[in-house]
Amino acid sequence: MSDNVNYENAVTEVNEGIVEEVHSIEDIESASDFELKHTPNLEVIEGANGQTIKATIGLKGIAHPQTEEHYIEWLRAFDGAEPIGTVNFGPTDTPEAVFEVPRTSSQIIVQALCNLHGIWEARV
Ligand SMILES: [Fe+2]
Repeated sequence: MSDNVNYENAVTEVNEGIVEEVHSIEDIESASDFELKHTPNLEVIEGANGQTIKATIGLKGIAHPQTEEHYIEWLRAFDGAEPIGTVNFGPTDTPEAVFEVPRTSSQIIVQALCNLHGIWEARV
């Protein structure tokens, strides 16, 4: 993790200008199933011209629901503070996304929005 980011008060804008706290796991070994199932799982794939980040939802194989009542609305990626892209999902979609990342990037951040439980973030 980068030293120049303040995780204590991390907030981000979600839909329609609403600003929400960003949740993240400090220690995966002591994380609850609730935390694990909301956190993006990031796979870094090295390519010729850069990296690709494959993002899915849930760590340690703990799956998040994807139903009308409870689902992941989007995944979005940043290169530091610079947005890379957003992929939106409906309740019947599989919440996974692939983001192209420049090789010069120092910190990739991927956030997920659960319609009931807010924003969850992972960094590589
Ligand atoms: Fe949720």
